[in-house]
Order: sequence, then structure tokens, then C-alpha cells
Amino acid sequence: MAQTATDANAADVLVIFGITGDLAKVMTFRSLYQLEARGLLDCPIVGVAADDWTVDQLVERARTSIEGTGVTIDKAVFDSLADRLSYVGGDFTDAQVYERVGAAIKGARTPVFYLEIPPFLFSRVIQGLSEAGLTTGARVVVEKPFGHDQQSARELAATLHEYLDESQLYRIDHYLGKMGLEEILYLRFANAVLEPLWSRNYLDCVQITMAESFGVEDRGHFYDPVGALRDVVVNHLMQVVAAAAMEPPSRGDPSTLKDSQVALFRAVEDADPAHYIRGQYDGYLAIDGVANGSATETYAALRLDIENWRWAGVPFFIRTGKRLPATQTELRLVFKRPPRLGFGPRGHVAEPNQVVIKLDPLTGVRVQIDAHRADRARIAPIELETEFVDEGGEGPTPYEVLLHAAMTGQNTRFTRQDAVEEQWRVMQPLLDAPTPIHTYQPGTWGPAAAREVPAGYGGWRQPWIPS
Ligand code: BG6
Repeated sequence: MAQTATDANAADVLVIFGITGDLAKVMTFRSLYQLEARGLLDCPIVGVAADDWTVDQLVERARTSIEGTGVTIDKAVFDSLADRLSYVGGDFTDAQVYERVGAAIKGARTPVFYLEIPPFLFSRVIQGLSEAGLTTGARVVVEKPFGHDQQSARELAATLHEYLDESQLYRIDHYLGKMGLEEILYLRFANAVLEPLWSRNYLDCVQITMAESFGVEDRGHFYDPVGALRDVVVNHLMQVVAAAAMEPPSRGDPSTLKDSQVALFRAVEDADPAHYIRGQYDGYLAIDGVANGSATETYAALRLDIENWRWAGVPFFIRTGKRLPATQTELRLVFKRPPRLGFGPRGHVAEPNQVVIKLDPLTGVRVQIDAHRADRARIAPIELETEFVDEGGEGPTPYEVLLHAAMTGQNTRFTRQDAVEEQWRVMQPLLDAPTPIHTYQPGTWGPAAAREVPAGYGGWRQPWIPS
């Protein structure tokens, strides 16, 4: 967030399609407010949606949405944000709406169009903008899902590329805006004490856990056709895999960085359904919008293998689920077990070391080592840890980071189409042959069958949960 919105290439207007929707309510208004508070907003904002709203209604929605996220509004900041807002109502399938948008942004040379709309409308809106002559010099920000499998991801890209160059497309995977994710890459390569350890020379396995204590709640209509694998694994958790496993990019420019990510994805073997367990929490079927007898997974556990010199033989175990005992996302390196020691307590075998990078809800690093303590009869693991909030505070939220990056034309944190296709390629065998669904009780760590996934590697390690 070092650059300000006055930099060259900065947006001269932000146009948000779908501004009356849910994502705007829970994320966008609050992020814009925070950017305003930090002095990082510098252009008008035009909201577009089908509803017949006035600008006063939009301003009121902005106020209640921001307050609804727990922020206490500063009047001066809010007034300044409200002054930027205007509204265009209309049906996205009607060419006139794009003419009205054109009139609202007249003279803009670097508009940013943010599409917070269902994916089936992406191409219609982009076509409308293009036919109204509004896409020259523009950037278009789109939300996931980018297809629902490899084929549909390719088709979607082909349609979008009819109207836009790949460099104009900013695909949001909000994990790329998380401080913890950026931290992984930095920690790995900026610390000589850590860098050599990230390889098959020292590691037994890598475990990624994304646990959520909440359920699908009122998102049944969205979630049921999607499921955990498509909702968070193929995108968010694959970004964690990339940061944990990629080679250091030799420069900081977007293509060099994205090339490193894609090179890593290309080394990931197609996922094997033999190492894939799906679960569904008891109670899911009663949620509004969930199909009768739905076999959609709310829990997924799988194994990935990376076939290159650094990682061959070190499985990456990934698990995610809703209604688990805690909300916690972490990356955990599990080291090889040391041999039996010729000295020290008889029969004692030291525990494998572990390095944990906590990504959510707070960020931190923990190193678990085995130590000989005066207060214990036996040697035992101890934890050296730091929560980053105690060191430098928490950074801006992902949507602030990403909206600001889109508005200033920095596309490093947005997913490129070749990465999207590789991510789907890895997961495609699991989509083609979905394994049976196991029911699990809310508040547990998922179905018992998921224990098989890291069998032979000491099982799933208990995540680092705040005590
Ligand atoms: C979203 C998924 O993309 O990511 C949600 O649709 C999930 O189901 C969310 O809960 C998790 O993101 P975060 O940042 O809240 O951990």
C-alpha cells in the first residue's frame, strides 16, 4: 500500500457493478471507507445495479453497511466518501445502461470497472462496456469463481478476451491480499536461517488447514452448487501452496512473480481421488437453498504431490471445512523425525520440529522445538512464537489492499489466466470422480475417514489456536 492514488496510471473513476449486493454490503463499502480514511481514494465512484435507487439511498446503504461491519464512523471521512458517490440504475442486459454509465464517467481515461456480479453476467457487462466504447484504457476487476472446472475456465477467458486484453483483467482471489500470504514468501527468502529448511532435505510433510467454525448459513443457494473444493481449495489454498513451495522470483515485477507461481503449479501432480475425503456437516441439508439429498462437500481433505527437486517425496496435505471447532488458517511444516539419540533419557525419541505460519484470523509464526527443561522429567516440545499484531499491528484487510492495487494499476496480486487453468488442472480428477460423502458432527474436526489422508506422516497436527 505504499503508493498513493495520485500515481501515474491511477484510476480516474471507479465503477462498481452490483453495488446493491451482498459483497458490497459486507466488504466493499467498509474497504472504501478505510481507504478514504488513509487518504488513498482520489476519484469519483459510480455504483451501478438493477435496483431503482437514488444516490441518497446509496449513501444510506454505504453508512449502514460500514456500521454493520463494526466500524464507528468518522463524519468527515464518511462525508468525503459520500461526496464521491453517484448511482446509475438499469438492467445489465439493456444497452442503454452502458450509455448512461458512459455519460456518468464522461472524459475518464483510466476507469476501473469492478464487477461484483454473478459470473454468468461477466461477459454481458464487458460486452456492453466495450460496445459503448468504455473499455479503452480501462481495467476490469472480476470476482471468483473463474469457471467451475478447467474447460469452463478456458471458455470464460476466451469470451472475456474477445473484449479485453489479459493485462486489463484483474481477477480477485482475496487470499492474495492477505498479509500472511505475502509474509510466507518474505519469511522464506529473506531469512537465511529459514530458507534452506523448505525442502525435501528436511521436511516430512506440509499441512495446510483452513478451519471455519461457522457454517453455510444464508449462503445455501451460492454454496450448494459449488462445495468446499471449488469455493476455497482450487483458489485460496492453492495460493498458499504456491507461496509455500514456489522458487524465489528473481524480480518483483508482476510477470516474473506470476511466472514463478505458474512454474510451481505446473510441477504439482494431478490430484489423486484415492487421497481425497469429502465431508458434509450434519444439519447442512436443512439450509435454505441446499438441494434435497445434496452430496455437496462442506469439508475436503486431500493430498498433493509436487514433482520437482525441492519437493519430491514431501506430500502437501490440505484440509478445510465449515462448522469445525475453530476459525483458523495455517501453514505447517513438519520436519523429519530425528534418529534415536545415543544420550539423554533412555528410549526417548525427539518429536519432529514444526514451523507454523498462521494466516487467519491473525498472523504469526511459531517454531516448535524439543527441549530439555528443568521442570519436566522428560524432554518435551516447547514453542517459540510471535503474533505479528504484537510486533507491528495488523495490516489493511485484503479488500483494501486489492481495491487499492486495482485502482493504482498494480496487478501483482491478481490471478493470471494460466495460473487459473493450472489450478483447475490439478483438481480436475477430484471433480471428475467425486468420492463418497461422509457426514460429520458440527464442532468436530471433520469425518473420521479424513485421518487416512496423512496416515504414515503422524496424522493431522492440532492447529495453533489462540488459548
Ligand atoms: C470465500 C468463500 O471466498 O472465502 C467463503 O466463499 C469463505 O466460503 C471465505 O468463508 C474465507 O475467507 P476469509 O478471508 O474470511 O478467511
